[in-house]
Amino acid sequence: MAYKCTNCGFTSIEWLGRCPKCGKWDTFKESSPPENDGLPEESSLGADELKPLSDITSNPQNRLTTQIGEFDRVLGGGLVRGSVVLLGGEPGIGKSTLMLQVAANLAKEGKVLYVSGEESARQLKKRASRLNLSSENLIIYSGGNLEKAVNHLTQIEPICAIVDSIQSIHSVNSSSTLGSTKQVRELGQSFTRVAKHKEITTLLIGHVTKTGDFSGPKTIEHLVDATIYFEGKEDSNLRMIRPEKNRFGSTQLLGLFQMKKDGLLEIPDPSRFFATNLKGSNQPGAVTVCSMEGTRPIMVEIQALVTHSNYAGRAQRKTTGLDYNRASLLFAVLNKQTNINLEGFDIYLNVVGGFRISETAADLAIATAIVSSFYNTQLPEKTVILGEIGLSGEVRAIQNLQSRISEAEKLGYQQMFVPASNQGINHNKPALNLNEVNTVSETFSRLNLEGGQ
Ligand code: TYD
Ligand code: MG
Repeated sequence: MAYKCTNCGFTSIEWLGRCPKCGKWDTFKESSPPENDGLPEESSLGADELKPLSDITSNPQNRLTTQIGEFDRVLGGGLVRGSVVLLGGEPGIGKSTLMLQVAANLAKEGKVLYVSGEESARQLKKRASRLNLSSENLIIYSGGNLEKAVNHLTQIEPICAIVDSIQSIHSVNSSSTLGSTKQVRELGQSFTRVAKHKEITTLLIGHVTKTGDFSGPKTIEHLVDATIYFEGKEDSNLRMIRPEKNRFGSTQLLGLFQMKKDGLLEIPDPSRFFATNLKGSNQPGAVTVCSMEGTRPIMVEIQALVTHSNYAGRAQRKTTGLDYNRASLLFAVLNKQTNINLEGFDIYLNVVGGFRISETAADLAIATAIVSSFYNTQLPEKTVILGEIGLSGEVRAIQNLQSRISEAEKLGYQQMFVPASNQGINHNKPALNLNEVNTVSETFSRLNLEGGQ
């Protein structure tokens, strides 16, 4: 049995008090049910039509902006109309929060359908109130039935659909189990078909387990236009989004947010956010580095704490936000290539603000932080340290040095230690003093990091 709105013709598998399309009350009457699952036939998608490429029109600027700058930027300048984006992340990281914020913003442009298979309409309303969001154009379907969801999509024809989550929707015509890889693949295909046919921009949320298993949603990565990962740590309110794949933009991007009481807040100027020592409270062991996140330079503070170990022969070595193996290699280089003996010392390394650095360009900053803490000597103010360290203690060239220098200048840093081996550095920058160094020992002596402990 199906029901039809006598005012606008909208049909629904269930009876509705108010028509989601025209907004009229009490207009639903029984009618014959749709013959299929509501999906368009393959042949009506235009897939089998032949056309010369020159006759096909496309509008490259056809993007929906979500007005959340960090999200739009990571997507390559907003959501391409009719594209399908998969948003993956651990439970509780903030996917539904971000999507509700996106939905409410897009609802200013047109109708948005939020398919909530996980939470009741009431729970969604509670979140929306917390985020201070409300819109007549934001229509909620809280149910996990694929056929109903697709029916609503084809009837309402929203500009955007959000499916929260792909693991919580099931098809009555499918024998596969809820959340299974097979089911996720089938759903991915259904939603992608509707999205392409009706040009409905579709955001699919997929859960990744704590161990990083994305096996279900991963199986639809080839179907979707972009996959974005939502990351963050439990002990920090920092949240990051990174594209893993993007047909319409670069994957070398990073979007940053803070999870606040009233939703996700963008961090549009991350350098100022992370580089705390610009405020002039330099501590021994604190060193600023400029890390590249794709094409974006970000000033980040690395902290080291080096103390006498209470456990002779079993010194503690811990890293947070840095690769442990890379740090171990740096300890070995320091032991061998300088007169600093770290044996018998506990070493803790941390990146401020929950940030993660994975590039070797931070080697010299990490080593300097260790030595600064070891001698209990602070670095000069407004100093940035950059360089990769080789096994014989040499400072090696790094990528993107010029854009890192520009970022440091922009933020008002006064001096930088950079690899002498980097070619083509622009020296016409009186605002910032560049110290070119060849070895770790040379760096420490020019920073007066010697003796004293
Ligand atoms: P949620 O968006 O439900 O995560 P996901 O959909 O990825 O599972 O976010 C859940 C967490 O975020 C929860 O622990 C509460 C917190 N939160 C805030 O800190 N501020 C907010 O404004 C909201 C809505 C949630
Ligand atoms: Mg959720």
